[in-house]
Amino acid sequence: MIGRLPHNGFCARGTPLSSHRSTAADPSRPGSPRRSPGRCWVSPVVLCADLGADGGRAPDGRGSRAGARGGRLRPVSALDWDHNAFYHRLLLRQLPDGLRRVLDVGCGAGVFASKLAARAEKVDAVDKSPEMIAAAYDTTPDNVTLLLGDVLKEPLPEAGYDAIVSVTALHHLPLEMALPVLARALRPGGVLVAVALPRTDLPRELPVELLALISQRLFGLTFALLRKFNGGNWFAHEPTHSAMPVLLDPPLATRQVREYAAALLPGAQVRRLVFWRYFLLWHKPSD
Ligand SMILES: C[S@@+](CC[C@H](N)C(=O)[O-])C[C@H]1O[C@@H](n2cnc3c(N)ncnc32)[C@H](O)[C@@H]1O
Repeated sequence: MIGRLPHNGFCARGTPLSSHRSTAADPSRPGSPRRSPGRCWVSPVVLCADLGADGGRAPDGRGSRAGARGGRLRPVSALDWDHNAFYHRLLLRQLPDGLRRVLDVGCGAGVFASKLAARAEKVDAVDKSPEMIAAAYDTTPDNVTLLLGDVLKEPLPEAGYDAIVSVTALHHLPLEMALPVLARALRPGGVLVAVALPRTDLPRELPVELLALISQRLFGLTFALLRKFNGGNWFAHEPTHSAMPVLLDPPLATRQVREYAAALLPGAQVRRLVFWRYFLLWHKPSD
């Protein structure tokens, strides 16, 4: 059996990302996935052991982590759709060509990391949920290195990334710690781009909240019809959606995120997006 991975350590037991070489699956063992060396592999047995008897509560007590047993699965209606996937194109548009190494923070089941992999030579995709890393293992291509760990606790290569991207994970992190950590890991001239959940900010954001409520249903209906009659995915939720660790009570409103960004990432742009996300974009000044 493959060695137990620490909950909060990267795959290779805390090896810095710059020298990361993970344990590859042993193809000679029955049921062992065939992957190339250098990719993280997390044993499903280990994962079962790692799902606590707490019914899937996240280790930090925030949000829920519905898992293989005892999890509280979120119901998905036919008109629900994936707001994160909807914003993938917006994020990808911010990335220049010729990317060598990119970091995906809070990669979840690796859907966006796979899209990044088509744009970059190498993608490091980090998540602290063993369930999500295991799901990502099944779907991401070989130039994605999966890292099980807390992005704030493990050493990231200084100025090691051409781009750092994050989809709906920044609100899980204390921004005053996360932004400097990510800024250090970005090379001069690199780009940091993210969407994440803002705290509801009423009455200031009432117009956008109303617009979101109305258009969410209209978009949901349109996407459902397109799926039915035209085929295609049309922002349908991934099968892992119900097991995704979520934080439904984000700590900061968009304007507070803007204040943090102004202080920590001079020149950063922060704006509210319609479907319950904020958008953060920063180009690190070149030396
Ligand atoms: C709402 S999910 C989004 C996942 C994925 N980016 C997507 O769009 O489908 C947030 C993810 O961030 C991860 N996460 C939260 N805090 C983290 C941390 N400190 N380090 C690494 N990952 C973290 C969670 O485990 C979770 O998978």
